[in-house]
Amino acid sequence: MYNLALIPGDGIGPEIIREGKKVIEAASKIYGIEINWIEYPFGAEHYLKTGELLPDSALKEIQDLDAIYFGAIGDPRVKPGILENEILLKIRFYFDQYINLRPIKLYTGVPCPLKDKKPEDINFYVVRENTEDFYVGIGGRFKARANQDHLEVLRKLYKAKIKVNFNLEQEEEMAYQIGLISKSGAQRVIKYAFELAKKEDMKRVTSVDKANVLTNIYGLWREVFTEVSAQYEDIETEFTFVDAITMWLVRKPEWFKVVVAPNMFGDIITDLGAMIQGGLGIAAGGNINPEGVSMFEPIHGSAPKYKGKSVANPTATILAGAMMLEFLGEIEVAKDIEDAVEKVLSEGKVRTQDLSGESSTEQVGDEIVKKLPKA
Ligand code: IPM
Ligand code: MN
Repeated sequence: MYNLALIPGDGIGPEIIREGKKVIEAASKIYGIEINWIEYPFGAEHYLKTGELLPDSALKEIQDLDAIYFGAIGDPRVKPGILENEILLKIRFYFDQYINLRPIKLYTGVPCPLKDKKPEDINFYVVRENTEDFYVGIGGRFKARANQDHLEVLRKLYKAKIKVNFNLEQEEEMAYQIGLISKSGAQRVIKYAFELAKKEDMKRVTSVDKANVLTNIYGLWREVFTEVSAQYEDIETEFTFVDAITMWLVRKPEWFKVVVAPNMFGDIITDLGAMIQGGLGIAAGGNINPEGVSMFEPIHGSAPKYKGKSVANPTATILAGAMMLEFLGEIEVAKDIEDAVEKVLSEGKVRTQDLSGESSTEQVGDEIVKKLPKA
């Protein structure tokens, strides 16, 4: 029996989570696994009604649960950044979910926007760092003479020989945001990437950075990568700059096996990854703390314009559910779900509009349930 937190969230979140839950329950039942869902209302609607985002009491409660199944967050009625920071990122940080594991896999039957690429050409993992880099939230906005604290920050920047294009005499508005990488933070995610490569028998780990410009943080990242890689002699390694990898992911995706990236670059390249695997409707991810509470979600957002229309593709959410079960140790159930998804995609009869079909969100969920092995 598992106790799972369920956070459907905003927009299409509730619709896709409903299908995910349906598939997880049907697949688990075959193996006699019981699931106790603890549903939370957090998201735009709850925030607008009550002013509450995500209280610490809920986080404390979730600490004792086995995992979190998450839909999507974001709503045009709420200023960007509030729900994202105070709900999604808060969970990632609170539970120290330092791995964001995003498999990029082109399933049979799914149209690929890249010419002549086949399922065997697009099958790799992005291991995105999930708690550091430009996501640490250090930053500010200010006007020149507005605030002594801000001047203090500027003085420190000058002292550290950080050049700022700024004239103290002038009342110009400024903003800054700082990226941070710690040695241990880089070590744990890079080690995870190598262990994953070892486990999956993938013989290449690619590091992503921008060490040619952001020499401090990504210089440290490279040093750690070099250090960790020394412990894995039979795994090939390489460094790529983030701009270059966006090109190679389009030109030669078959090259990649395990890609490890700092938080923000990992965010950006996985949207590209989702596209080459056939779209955001199929791309799943896990926010993982191997020793703690992890959270599984589709890579896509809340798609407010499709809310309540039952046109959203629930496949990414369903695959995220399979990742959750795998992470919980239910390897067979996870495999059954992925196989069922694969069958539905390769048959191509029941699919949502993003895959040029006409089926509803619910019909896709039902069809995947039908393809599960019989009890
Ligand atoms: C993602 C999203 C989030 C991120 C946002 C919604 C905070 O884009 O999960 O990729 O930037 O990590
Ligand atoms: Mn993103």
